[in-house]
Amino acid sequence: MTKKEILEKLQNDKDEFRLNYHITPAKGLLNDPNGLVEKDGKYYIFHQWNENDCEHGLKSWGLFTTENFIDWKIEGIQLSPTDWYDKNGCYSGSAIVKDNKIHLIYTGNVRDEKGERESYQCIAIETKEGFEKKGPVISEIPEGYTPHFRDPKVWEKNDIFYAVIGAQSIDLKGEILFYKSEDLLNWELVSSIYDKKDLGYMLECPDYFELDGVGVLLCSPQGLEPEGILYNNIYQSGYLLGNINYSNGQGSWNSFTELDRGFDFYAPQTFLDNKGRRILIAWMGLEGDIHPTIESKNWVHALTIPRELKIIDNKIYQVPLEEYKMLRDKKIEVENLEVEGVLEVESLYGNSFEMIVEIDELYSNNFGISFRKSENEKISLSVENNLVCLNRDNIDSLKGKRYFETDSQNHKFHIFMDKSSIEVFYNDGKEVFTSRLYVSEKSKGIEFFSNNGKTKFKKIEFYSLKKFNYSI
Ligand code: FRU
Repeated sequence: MTKKEILEKLQNDKDEFRLNYHITPAKGLLNDPNGLVEKDGKYYIFHQWNENDCEHGLKSWGLFTTENFIDWKIEGIQLSPTDWYDKNGCYSGSAIVKDNKIHLIYTGNVRDEKGERESYQCIAIETKEGFEKKGPVISEIPEGYTPHFRDPKVWEKNDIFYAVIGAQSIDLKGEILFYKSEDLLNWELVSSIYDKKDLGYMLECPDYFELDGVGVLLCSPQGLEPEGILYNNIYQSGYLLGNINYSNGQGSWNSFTELDRGFDFYAPQTFLDNKGRRILIAWMGLEGDIHPTIESKNWVHALTIPRELKIIDNKIYQVPLEEYKMLRDKKIEVENLEVEGVLEVESLYGNSFEMIVEIDELYSNNFGISFRKSENEKISLSVENNLVCLNRDNIDSLKGKRYFETDSQNHKFHIFMDKSSIEVFYNDGKEVFTSRLYVSEKSKGIEFFSNNGKTKFKKIEFYSLKKFNYSI
């Protein structure tokens, strides 16, 4: 697609499911965020993209750039699978600035004549004309591992470059390998930094960073079995706190915690910006679900809104980026709304908005909010005893419920609704539900409910939000 075609589609699409303020593919399938980096005040948000159809086929790297996360420049495809070492896909990877140039380190996915997988970790370097591929920098699959070896995430510490790469041991367990390099071109395997073999059969998209002095290892395990309200999606994404011993590459980690408790969140990647913020963006999607946009509209998936990470009491909090306040348009505020049974507030409605709801006095053990209500549709967010639930059973496609536990008596929901998506940040980002939801654009009602007693919704702030602005 030309940049002009992409612009035309993203700006003027009449598709009721097209998101207003999230990155979506004009056409085809988008998955992982890649190569997130800031250079000279400009943020580079690359992503996995099969622009030809809505399957996980041949992947390229698409790119959007921005200085404020609200106005976006469409840059189009930057890496295409055109060389022997990436002919079946320019798979996920990361970016780092060296000598004032962005260097992309990604996985070249190759199928040999017999259809067997080969993986090459490759480099491409920024030039005035775009990104110039320089080929593989790690060609060997390390001994003891299968060709499921991908998604390098690179960082720098004391003038040395380090990388974590997702791997699978020959006994088919997920591991994360730790490499080091002095020049991004020659890499040495130091060790496996996650070899406990208790996180499924593959660990995709690892990331490592230090936040307030604590080491954080992100990864996306495949092959975890559901455990009650945990691990209910096909694949998971989460983190382990601990540290890497840089000299011998050994890691020591606490247990795995899911980053998001909704239906659609995978392959998160982080980067550090010039303001010192650790920012996370994830793929708002997963494999397996059949989304209604695939057949009729020819596009599928989106990126989440960027979140700033904090660490509080050994837990990662995700906070929507400050910049998103610039999208705010009309504001409505309601205070001390007392509800017993069901109450619709007529002034509050919409299919693309931000809403912050605070509840601090409880007389009921079962209350919540329904959104996108019409005669036959709604999705609800409820608190019942200590379980918070996102329920999409009352809509036509992609049903189900997701939960997390809370021990708090005070509840604050910060909700971003965008046509066919919802992101709910609970109690300042302690837990998050990220999900797609396919509801008619005409279903706009908002309703508050309280069973077994009264609930006082102390403060409700509601904003209609502007759309992203795109240019080429
Ligand atoms: C994660 C993933 C990565 C891979 C990419 C291919 O969603 O499977 O492991 O690099 O997607 O698109």
